[in-house]
Amino acid sequence: MIIFKSINKLNKEVNFKAKVGFVPTMGSLHKGHISLIKSSRKKCQKTLVSIFVNPSQFNNKNDYKNYPRNLKKDINLLRKLKVDYLLIPKSEDIYKNKNKMKIKISKTDKIMCAIYRPGHFEGVLAVINQFLIRLKPKYIFFGKKDYQQLYLVRKYIGKKFKTKVVPCSTIRDKNMVALSSRNSFLNSEDIKKSSILAKKIIKFKKKIIKNIMLRKNTKNIIFQLNKLKNIKIEYLEVRNEKNLSKKITNKNFKIFVAYYNKNVRIIDNF
Ligand code: PAF
Repeated sequence: MIIFKSINKLNKEVNFKAKVGFVPTMGSLHKGHISLIKSSRKKCQKTLVSIFVNPSQFNNKNDYKNYPRNLKKDINLLRKLKVDYLLIPKSEDIYKNKNKMKIKISKTDKIMCAIYRPGHFEGVLAVINQFLIRLKPKYIFFGKKDYQQLYLVRKYIGKKFKTKVVPCSTIRDKNMVALSSRNSFLNSEDIKKSSILAKKIIKFKKKIIKNIMLRKNTKNIIFQLNKLKNIKIEYLEVRNEKNLSKKITNKNFKIFVAYYNKNVRIIDNF
């Protein structure tokens, strides 16, 4: 694996005429990332991974400061996975040209996490935009766990770049908890709470599939979930999986949730 600390150096070495798959990450890699990397290795001739904790997507300075970082462990893992190239850029490299960074999302997209984390998706799109202006991967891989991110990135990339987005399934543990770098802040008791929450939402989803009218029962389910110790629901919404509108049938919806488990913010969708 060749490690690059600057995009220019990477561009000199990597032949983007080959089928290159790109997996952008913020490090602290887990099985979810591993599955993205394996999908890229399967589909592409070369796989490029980036590790960059992107400051512009954090709406809270402490959250950025405390975001888990495990660079040595990550590098060892990426070597084992036979990743071809690793990019670990500096902030100055990504944010050289500040004027070109301002990306806005539309009013209709200001829902769910876009409301509760103002500026977050603008920051995600800014960094992806910079990567794709300067790198030319054939495919870019995103997990469905961050579904709203996937939706917005797809919409943005679709218009501007040739790179194709490959969505990959959420990876869950045996108790249905979605893997996330932020789970490293949770102990086994906390993880149990996330598991109970996930199972209750899955049950709720099955009920809606049987009776679409039950989609209106979100207040009741939020009330029940908030009774779990240390759980505080930020939002729980039933939305169309294609366009994230509230117009759904019993075949095309997902339940989106953001919640605090102790002081750790978790998102998921079912
Ligand atoms: O999903 C993430 O880890 C980040 O939002 C991403 C896509 C790497 C952009 O910083």
